[in-house]
Formats: sequence, C-alpha cells, structure tokens
Amino acid sequence: MTVVKKKRIGKEIERRILKTKRISLFLLISCMLFLLCFAVSACGRADDDRTNHVVENTADGVQNDSQTNEPEENVKNETVQEVDDGIPNEQPNSEASEGQLFDLESGTVMLNSGYEMPILGIGTFRLSQSEAEDSVYWALRDGYRLIDTARIYGNEEGVGRGIQRAIDEGFVTREEIFVTTKMWTDDYGDGAAAIDASLDRLGLDYIDLMILHHSAPESDVEAYQAMEQAVEDGKLRSIGLSNYYTPEDFDRLVNATSITPALLQNETHPYHQSVEMKEHLQQYGTVMESWFPLGGRGNTQTLFDDETISGIATDHGKTSAQVILRWHLQAGNIAIPGSSSEAHIQENYEIFDFELTDEEMERMSALDRNERFASY
Ligand SMILES: NC(=O)c1ccc[n+]([C@@H]2O[C@H](COP(=O)([O-])OP(=O)(O)OC[C@H]3O[C@@H](n4cnc5c(N)ncnc54)[C@H](OP(=O)(O)O)[C@@H]3O)[C@@H](O)[C@H]2O)c1
Repeated sequence: MTVVKKKRIGKEIERRILKTKRISLFLLISCMLFLLCFAVSACGRADDDRTNHVVENTADGVQNDSQTNEPEENVKNETVQEVDDGIPNEQPNSEASEGQLFDLESGTVMLNSGYEMPILGIGTFRLSQSEAEDSVYWALRDGYRLIDTARIYGNEEGVGRGIQRAIDEGFVTREEIFVTTKMWTDDYGDGAAAIDASLDRLGLDYIDLMILHHSAPESDVEAYQAMEQAVEDGKLRSIGLSNYYTPEDFDRLVNATSITPALLQNETHPYHQSVEMKEHLQQYGTVMESWFPLGGRGNTQTLFDDETISGIATDHGKTSAQVILRWHLQAGNIAIPGSSSEAHIQENYEIFDFELTDEEMERMSALDRNERFASY
C-alpha cells in the first residue's frame, strides 16, 4: 500500500469517527432537550394540582391567603370562572359543588365547615316558650335532628327544654342533633356576650350553627368576627348568615371576614326560589336554607292551593305541604317548616318515601315569580 493510499484511509477513518461523534452529540442533545421538556411539563402539572388545591381550600372555608402564595383575587377569579362556564355542578373535583350535594337517603348535607347538617328541621318562629318546647320534643321523637330558633323569638329556653326532654327520654343524644340559633341585630355590638347568652338560654355548651339574623352593613362584620372567635373557642361549630339578598351584600361580608359562611338562610319557597343567590353561593360551597318554606303563617294556603302543587300532591297521594317540602330538598334547599301542631310535625317528616320526577321538578321551577311574602 502506498503512503498516499494509507493517508487517504486514515483520513476516511478520522472522518467516520468525527461523523459518529457528531451523531452521538446530536443524540445526547436531543435526549437532554427531551428531558428538559419533560421536566417543564411536570412542573406545569404540579402548578395545576396546587391551583386545584386552592379551589378546594376556598370551598372548605379555609382562608385563601394562608394556603397559597397566589394573590387572593386570582383564587376568587378562578372559582368564579367555574360558575361562569355554566358547569359548576359537573366539576368532579370541586368541593364547592360537592359540598352542596344533598344526601336524600341520610337526609343530610356536608357543610363547607366539615360538619354534617340535617336537611329537614323544625322551625320555631312565633312559638311561645311552651309551644317551642313541645314542638321540639315531638320533632325529635319523630326523627327530626335539626332545630331552628333565634334569640329574637324569645323561645330559646323552651327549645332547650324540649331538647333536654328528648335526651332524657332516650330519643336522641346531644351529638345527634343540630341546633341553630341567630344573633339579633341589636346585639351585633357585643357579639361575644350574645353568643354566651344564647348558650346559656339553650342550656348547651356548644351551638351547631349560629347565623347573623339580618344584614347590617354598619355592624355585621364585627358581629361575624365575634362568631369567628367563638368557633375558635369551641362555642360554635359552624357560622353563617340570614337575610342577605344580593350577591354584592353577601360578598361585602365575605370579603371582610375569614370563615366562609356555611349557610345562608333566606325566604325561599316555590314563589321565591332564590335562584340568583343559590347560583352565587355555589362558588363558596355555602348552602341555602329556606325560611317560610311553606310560605309562612297566613300565606300557606296560597301555596297549598296552587294547581301545580296540589295536582302533584294528588298524583303522589301526598299533601301539598309534603310536596313543597320534598321539592325544597330535591332543589337543594334545607327546609325548616315551623309548626306547633303535633300532626303537622309528623306529616312534614314523611317526605322521604316518595320522589318528584324531573318533569315535576321542572313544573315546580316554573312557579317561580321572584315574589316574597315577607316585607323584611
Ligand atoms: N331568618 C329569618 O329571618 C326567619 C324568618 C322567618 C322564619 N324563620 C325560620 O324559618 C322557620 C319556618 O318559617 P315559618 O315557620 O315562619 O313559616 P312556614 O314554615 O313556611 O309556615 C309555618 C305555617 O305552616 C303551617 N304548617 C306547617 N306544617 C303544615 C302542614 N303540614 N299542613 C298545614 N299547615 C302547616 C303552620 O301551622 P301549624 O302551627 O298549625 O302547623 C304555620 O302556620 C321559622 O319557624 C323560623 O325558624 C327565619
């Protein structure tokens, strides 16, 4: 082999080695780029997970800014987005919508505070002390586990006595029942004293749910903060609001306080179905509770005689009152019909053995006139 030929072969080998090196380098860089892309996308997924967590925390009533570095505004926009998309109930991971699902078998709903609440209870507005005592006692005996009273009804002692009678006779234990009372507006200036006074009158060492009775922009934030403190002190388990009729008014209170209201109690019945407020509450996992569920004293016959309601009642072999109450539960409203009648109390609880069809629910929805019976 000549020297020239040997050199040519040597160069060819060098060229091939160089080419191999280039291919290896190219493959190495490709691998690194691939790994880099993978790492970036994994980080993105982790961010998404963290965002979902934030939404859950919002629904859980935990303060937003304690859980994340994201600005609170962003978190709120994100949860609102779900509602704007029109599919709030179809988000499988959304605690806000899940938190409002009523379990019609157990007759309960899980509040955003983490406590379970019965969805049908006994109301005590306009009942004297002794009437309240009897009504609460009959209700607990018949299976009710939710009681609604208020300091302004002047019957908290009677309610407490009715509870004690039922406990003494072995129908229930304290832990099995859920007691709601309300702080009256005159007491907003000293909420802590109002809470202690209600505990005292009820004869209880904790209240399951306390709500502010009415919106009062000049003093309700202070009153709500007193309830927040009482939650921390173990005197109250859940807290909420009553008589906030616009999203703006509800948000005013929410934005100035820490614990998301577990519940809003507003006048709600077939002629005033509270559609706008219920939609607004979904982002917070706050449930709607209906006062005047049957229209209120003096108005009930108007609803009972409504042709749609009485027609559905006849079809099911039920009373109009039972159809209205069943509609509340299927529509996602906690109902607390008031009664001083032993027979009515029993009748109102017999609504777990039938179901309104989708078509009947639609006919009930169509009755909404956005018309309240009360003027306050
Ligand atoms: N947050 C607020 O501002 C607010 C305001 C009002 C009420 N609430 C709460 O919500 C609860 C419910 O409201 P409400 O009691 O005023 O009104 P409601 O429950 O709509 O109606 C009560 C009326 O319905 C009658 N009734 C009950 N069951 C019946 C049945 N099966 N058949 C025929 N009549 C029946 C009662 O009469 P009988 O006694 O004869 O059964 C009473 O006259 C109150 O008790 C109170 O706890 C809250």
